[in-house]
Amino acid sequence: MAITSVGIVGAGQMGNGIAHVFALAGFDVLMTDISQDALAKTVRLVDQNLDRQVSRGKITDEDRKAALGRIRTTPKLTDLGRCDLIIEAATERESVKQAIFDELLPHLRPETILTSNTSSISITRLASRTDRPEKFMGFHFMNPVPVMQLVELIRGIATDDATYQTLLKVVDKLGKTAASAEDFPAFIVNRILMPMINEAVYTLYEGVGNVTSIDESLKLGANHPMGPLELADFIGLDTCLAIMNVLHEGLADTKYRPCPLLTKYVEAGWLGRKTRRGFYDYR
Ligand code: CAA
Repeated sequence: MAITSVGIVGAGQMGNGIAHVFALAGFDVLMTDISQDALAKTVRLVDQNLDRQVSRGKITDEDRKAALGRIRTTPKLTDLGRCDLIIEAATERESVKQAIFDELLPHLRPETILTSNTSSISITRLASRTDRPEKFMGFHFMNPVPVMQLVELIRGIATDDATYQTLLKVVDKLGKTAASAEDFPAFIVNRILMPMINEAVYTLYEGVGNVTSIDESLKLGANHPMGPLELADFIGLDTCLAIMNVLHEGLADTKYRPCPLLTKYVEAGWLGRKTRRGFYDYR
């Protein structure tokens, strides 16, 4: 099945980047969000990020205009029923994702492929509650989506090969690289990245280093583009904690125990850049 139109649920940081790359690659994009404000903001942000690519000579102004012309928004989730591919990029809470699928499913064509950008929730479980587990996959983009080359493709236990092959072609058309992951807690990237971030928080908690020395060590000593604490602030400390909890519960191993300091920051509402306070102060 050839995919030409994509419906994106959620106009947050991830939905925004996903809309950007799909529109730039020539797909028709229809976005929805429960917040009208978020929808209006997302188009402005895509425009700004496209503009940044124009000024750096990555794309032309014609590309920018054409991409913007391919993005439409709607307040009605059910309008996405006519799209070939759905990417759910809503809040990382299973009950929220479930409610979205429940409302959307009766409006989808039988051949429509349904995906979730979840960073850690079981694809098999999400798929099992839909009418199309064979056409359901994890489609996990990395932040910032226009910059990061990788997309994780996660097959649930029932996902068929035709669906997987179709998504491989879509990733290829986006100019990105797919990594196939099996459906186990946090898949590949977060299975490795989050314990590293959690260990950086333990290193801070135990006083082995301070925020600056920990981040500098990994930037200058291991050539990471961002230090682990700076990266945690960028991703969102609530997201980091949620993924650590999925690893801890799903794999039942104490090595995945979230650092108490990470929990405390989340309890304080210090979630990183989005709340302007995390391991760093952005106020
Ligand atoms: N849209 C378009 N372009 C963007 C952009 C955006 N949103 N954000 C950055 N860019 C571009 C810049 O224009 C710049 O382009 P050029 O190379 O052409 O100059 C390039 O990206 C680098 O940006 P900056 O110069 O502003 O800043 P930087 O060099 O410090 O890089 C960064 C910023 C790309 C974010 C870099 O620090 C980095 O790679 N950090 C690590 C990010 C990472 O690990 N992401 C994965 C997180 S894990 C995840 O997402 C999974 C999950 O489920 C939690």
